[in-house]
Amino acid sequence: MQMYDLIMKKRNGSRLSKDEIDFFVNGYTRGEIPDYQVSALMMAIFFRGMDKEETVDLTMAMAGSGEVLDLSNIPGIKCDKHSTGGVGDKTTLALIPMVVACGARVAKMSGRGLGHTGGTIDKLESFPGFSTSISDKHFMDQVNTIGVSVMGQTVDLAPADKKLYALRDVTATVDNMSLIASSIMSKKLASGADAIVLDVKCGSGAFMKTFDDAKALATAMVDIGKGAGRRTMAVISDMDQPLGRAVGNAIEVREAIDTLHGKGPDDFTKLCYELGSRMLLMSDVCTGLDEAKDKLSEAISSGKALDTLAAFVKAQGGDESYVYDPMKLKVADRVTEIKADRDGFVSHIECDEIGMVSLTLGGGRVTKESEIDLSVGLILDKKVGDQVAKGDTIARIYASDPEKEKAAIARFEGTYTYSDTKPGSRGIILGSVD
Ligand code: URA
Repeated sequence: MQMYDLIMKKRNGSRLSKDEIDFFVNGYTRGEIPDYQVSALMMAIFFRGMDKEETVDLTMAMAGSGEVLDLSNIPGIKCDKHSTGGVGDKTTLALIPMVVACGARVAKMSGRGLGHTGGTIDKLESFPGFSTSISDKHFMDQVNTIGVSVMGQTVDLAPADKKLYALRDVTATVDNMSLIASSIMSKKLASGADAIVLDVKCGSGAFMKTFDDAKALATAMVDIGKGAGRRTMAVISDMDQPLGRAVGNAIEVREAIDTLHGKGPDDFTKLCYELGSRMLLMSDVCTGLDEAKDKLSEAISSGKALDTLAAFVKAQGGDESYVYDPMKLKVADRVTEIKADRDGFVSHIECDEIGMVSLTLGGGRVTKESEIDLSVGLILDKKVGDQVAKGDTIARIYASDPEKEKAAIARFEGTYTYSDTKPGSRGIILGSVD
């Protein structure tokens, strides 16, 4: 088999066989096929696309290119959730304690990643002492005893995806549906969960700007998961404005804890119930969505969800007293209140730009080596649809460095748009794919 023939075949619009896909994925992972030939193939795929079968074959080849986690020592259904990413997305921090308190089991392997804020692991490290550097045995035992464990990525999951994603990033071939779906799902399949709930974000702050594109991505990923024998479903949720009110790290942890007290922002709480009820259903903990939502509500009102977060933090070396007293979480003390410059209604918030404000403050990583400042971030006091009077505080910026604070305030400028009449709202849940 020759790489040249595969490139030409795809360039001319034909489909690739499973053997051909295995050939280029394995050859590239081993370093036997050069970047320039794989770049050409990626570009041909970008323009010609891949059908359902090719997409599944690509996913399976990438998932099998490294270690595949064996969670069979943990009895029962292990459930996982994946978000395609957005601004203010602290969902895992509240959702996981909620579902685990109801009887679901979550064994999660996470990486740190780049972005406006840190990933889940960074946010969890706001609890002093919390560590995801735990042994495989600790990881498995902890799921068996308290129902949840999160481990830093130690094994080489889907190394083919790592190489291909890096190549796509510099060859303008990231935003192809089949390539995104197979990239995300290869890592999910390799990390061993039996059931996967996907949160596909849609809007100006997401990869997928339109509902049709988000639905197509959700459908492609659900097809892959099911094709690989995993229970899989997707929720499509709004990311036209940041999720909840907090954007940052420790500040988002505080908001997640508020939510476990039943005092979280409406949009975020609703999303946790939607995803959580699906996770309980797929874990066979409940048989209907209404029953699952009642169970989640009971886990919050009884304090069981909060206690589950405390047990989880403690089991991984963290100080659980912070769960019960979140004001102890360090948040930067230089606070700037941003004021509305007119009367009206908030009609739009530039979601990506709010993320960039957090990044400017030092709350996210620009490169893998960047150090994150967990204490910085912002609170959006006003969101789309809220009425404001000139001079009202619309947001508060929490900074620890005067220069970064200045740059963040400048970056914030123009992120809010106002209208004279109340804009319509499409709500947080836009659809689902089962
Ligand atoms: N996230 C991934 O992991 N892969 C993609 O291709 C896009 C987003």
